[in-house]
Amino acid sequence: MPIQESKLVAALEPFHGFVLANVIFTLQRSGLEADLDHGTTAAQLAETHGLDRARLDAFLDYLVAAGLVRRGEDGVLARTVYGRSFDEARPWYEMMVGGYGVTFRGLGESLAAGSAPTPRVGGLVGSGSCGMSMHDSIPLLRLLLADSGREYHHLVDLGCGSGVYLTELCRDYPELTAVGIEPDENGAKAAREWVASQGFTDRITVEQTGALDWLAAVSEKPDLAVLGFVIHEVLGQEGEEGVRRLLDSLFEASPDLDLAIVDIDLGSGDEQRMSHPLAQRYYNAYFLMHPFTSQRLETAEWWERFFESCGLRVVARRLTDPAMDSTGFEIGWLLRKADR
Ligand SMILES: C[S@@+](CC[C@H](N)C(=O)[O-])C[C@H]1O[C@@H](n2cnc3c(N)ncnc32)[C@H](O)[C@@H]1O
Repeated sequence: MPIQESKLVAALEPFHGFVLANVIFTLQRSGLEADLDHGTTAAQLAETHGLDRARLDAFLDYLVAAGLVRRGEDGVLARTVYGRSFDEARPWYEMMVGGYGVTFRGLGESLAAGSAPTPRVGGLVGSGSCGMSMHDSIPLLRLLLADSGREYHHLVDLGCGSGVYLTELCRDYPELTAVGIEPDENGAKAAREWVASQGFTDRITVEQTGALDWLAAVSEKPDLAVLGFVIHEVLGQEGEEGVRRLLDSLFEASPDLDLAIVDIDLGSGDEQRMSHPLAQRYYNAYFLMHPFTSQRLETAEWWERFFESCGLRVVARRLTDPAMDSTGFEIGWLLRKADR
């Protein structure tokens, strides 16, 4: 018996989302959106952007059929309101489709015990994450630092991605100089370009290296350090001992350091929290890909016990603004040595 059409339509709904997400990401990276917003034709797009005409036509037909682009009777193409509705979520597509699309496609090859981790595209993970951070963790970080009552002069951002924390904090603190540490080659290049584009090359440098390697050779002592979604990377790569070494070295270099950590509370096993609409659309995938890419998330309680065992105390603790993300999964801590 052939499958009933209505059942096939329902069963193909996830596949529709899979291709649509890839198409949205492709459009966002293509540089075609501005032309489409002014109204253009396929011939003009092919000419201006040097595109393969047959492939471009297939891409545009898909966009029209999916309702993201309208084609007028004169052949003029323009983005629809629906087509523009994904703009604000661009960094989520950059990280989850551009950075981790290859990971989700490769889950099956890495499930067996002893198998290699699945690949990811590190530069897009870092830049997408930084774009998302403009909405969630940078406002959270600003609240944490306001709680501290201190002024800062030298910042290190460990795992700086494309560098937005560096420029944002240099705007907030006019006396601040900063160094960004980023092991990914494309990430470090993007961070340098971003810093230059914002006119901060006199106050910000970017070094392509890992957090532990940088600390082994640190010269200028920071009074503020930031780990934005990086401590779980180090935990996955170097284990608890590696993270302990990282925290010990940071506070050995600067005993009066303020350390701001933003990370995600591992809640994938909590069915009630996972029923939240944003958990279903984002965090479920976020929790899924971490162990496949040598990263190790832990619960907020686990981290707080760990910080205490490293001789640190929590000076302030905040969650993301619930108007943007009310799941409570994203958490920020401001830490100091217990005796300071
Ligand atoms: C999820 S992104 C976070 C980027 C940015 N900090 C933010 O909050 O948006 C994680 C970043 O950590 C970097 N990273 C991975 N392992 C690292 C390590 N051992 N030391 C420093 N950075 C690391 C990655 O290359 C990536 O840019």
